[in-house]
Amino acid sequence: MLFDLSGKTALVTGAGESAGPGIGAGIARARDAQGARAVVDDIKADTAAATVAAIEAAGGKAVAVCFDVVDRGAVLAGVREAEERFGPIDILVNNAGGTGGAPLAPFREQDPEKWELPIRSNLIGTLNCTHAVLEGMCARGWGRIVTIASVAGTTGMEVGASLYGAAKAGQVGFSRHLAVEVAPHGVTVNCVAPGFTMHGEVGGSHPLNRSQSRIPRLGAARDHAAACVYLASAEAEWVTGQVIQVNGGGQI
Ligand SMILES: NC(=O)c1ccc[n+]([C@@H]2O[C@H](COP(=O)([O-])OP(=O)(O)OC[C@H]3O[C@@H](n4cnc5c(N)ncnc54)[C@H](O)[C@@H]3O)[C@@H](O)[C@H]2O)c1
Repeated sequence: MLFDLSGKTALVTGAGESAGPGIGAGIARARDAQGARAVVDDIKADTAAATVAAIEAAGGKAVAVCFDVVDRGAVLAGVREAEERFGPIDILVNNAGGTGGAPLAPFREQDPEKWELPIRSNLIGTLNCTHAVLEGMCARGWGRIVTIASVAGTTGMEVGASLYGAAKAGQVGFSRHLAVEVAPHGVTVNCVAPGFTMHGEVGGSHPLNRSQSRIPRLGAARDHAAACVYLASAEAEWVTGQVIQVNGGGQI
């Protein structure tokens, strides 16, 4: 099977069955379908349990290990617990993120007290989780880090997302440098940059998406899940330090 992940353990953060777009849950389900054991993190335990139940119902292996990616101590404890249950983490998908509670608004109207929220939720969360699994990957000579960035990390948009964009661009810059650092150890580091993505069905429209007349449809979790499966596979071992744009061809 192409892109076979059998025997691998994949940790996906923010992978609960969300009422939102649910990109992480889609990634966890796709990983499992390719044969990997899925460690499902989410800050909300009930939604993580729902993803695990869906994977088990489909005949797969999954465990919920819930932690806040912003809390480094909780991340370390969560990774330890996951490794006790399913063995070393071979694949990490840094998916947890979002605005971190900061409103979408022009930068000039943003409260400086809230500048850090999206930086913590996206960038610091990614650093915490990556740091927790990286040493083991390098020691074993194999690993995959995939971070869910955003079109907002590489393109200017008129949607009040400058702080979120800064955090997403931070994930991209971090990944490019880390890719060079750990390439000799058999570990690849890449980003997937989603365009506007909706929950469930792939039709519909999005009020913030100016490019929808130019793209075939809005995105769904499965679009990003497929890119993640590829980047996690053995076939992608010569792809590192890249940002795969998954946006239907529309930047904004
Ligand atoms: N939906 C889009 O249009 C879009 C576009 C570009 C990038 N993204 C990125 O995709 C990722 C997933 O977002 P989504 O749209 O699927 O949102 P979502 O709200 O459906 O899912 C996010 C999940 O992460 C969990 N989470 C949030 N903060 C967490 C934390 N600190 N620790 C652990 N879990 C946490 C939430 O409980 C939720 O289940 C995010 O990084 C987001 O920035 C989304």
